[in-house]
Amino acid sequence: SQLAVVAAKYSCGAPRSGAEYGPDVLINSGIFSDIQSETDYKLTIDHLAQNGTFSNKVEANDADPDTNNMKLPRTVSLASKQVSECVYAHARQGKFVMTLGGDHSIGMGTVTGVARAIRERFGGSELSVLWIDAHADINTPEPSPSGRIHGMPVAFASGLARHGIFDWITASHLINLKRFVYIGLRDVDEAEERVIAEKGIKAFSMEDVRQHGIEKVMDLALEYLGDETPIHVSYDIDSLDPEWAPSTGFPVSPGLSLEEGIHVSRRLQATQNLVAMDLVEVNPLIESERLETTVESARSVIHAALGVERI
Ligand code: ARG
Ligand code: MN
Ligand code: MN
Ligand code: MN
Repeated sequence: SQLAVVAAKYSCGAPRSGAEYGPDVLINSGIFSDIQSETDYKLTIDHLAQNGTFSNKVEANDADPDTNNMKLPRTVSLASKQVSECVYAHARQGKFVMTLGGDHSIGMGTVTGVARAIRERFGGSELSVLWIDAHADINTPEPSPSGRIHGMPVAFASGLARHGIFDWITASHLINLKRFVYIGLRDVDEAEERVIAEKGIKAFSMEDVRQHGIEKVMDLALEYLGDETPIHVSYDIDSLDPEWAPSTGFPVSPGLSLEEGIHVSRRLQATQNLVAMDLVEVNPLIESERLETTVESARSVIHAALGVERI
């Protein structure tokens, strides 16, 4: 089987730069060498946006002024379109796609790319998405407190938010919020709370995890999605407690323990329905002296999702 790694080196959706260096730090840690030696995955790596054009350092300018309360919308749109097309091309061929971020705005690209590929491959069937995150990332532009698009990917990928700048997102790209589950939420904006309630989106907060245990939460999440569905997991490293993942832009305590995070991955692997994974928001410029801890955690959740257990 084939594993397509997509290094999505973008931070234009986030308020500060650094996440664009996440993919190289992960790859250079040797994250994929165990996978190469312990599995028969054939591995390819695509490097997207290596030139800094998509970093958050590109501040609003005449070419990309704030629009509708969105910061760097044209830059982010082009970035996520590139991600979407690259991910689509791999998923269309039945490869497992592992996208390394980058800020979470790239999730708009990954899930739309995979959703489109799944529709084509399986006669219109819909992708299921698990969003593992401290945040809901479902802000529509106007009520967003930050205007940063890494807080909006779920809104754009589901069609809840629309804008001419993002007109590359068509019906074939959209995910269905009825086939969508959150795990780990603990920092959700008011307007996001309303949308989640209104749309009846399945959500397991950090409180739910503490109350019922991660095993039970995964039982319920997987039962909700059913076993006849391809699954995409979009894993924000900030879902883990800052103890395990300090090098990220928006750490929020208390989060998932590393063990709980690995459990989520194992359970997804066990379904045999996992078709794609994103691992996003590793920012080497934040808490740099504890970057190794963050990278180790990322490695562990990635390995568990691919069924490569580390010693
Ligand atoms: N909800 C906040 C916002 O919209 C924070 C989003 C954080 N997102 C992330 N991918 N880290 O700005
Ligand atoms: Mn987050
Ligand atoms: Mn409950
Ligand atoms: Mn996120």
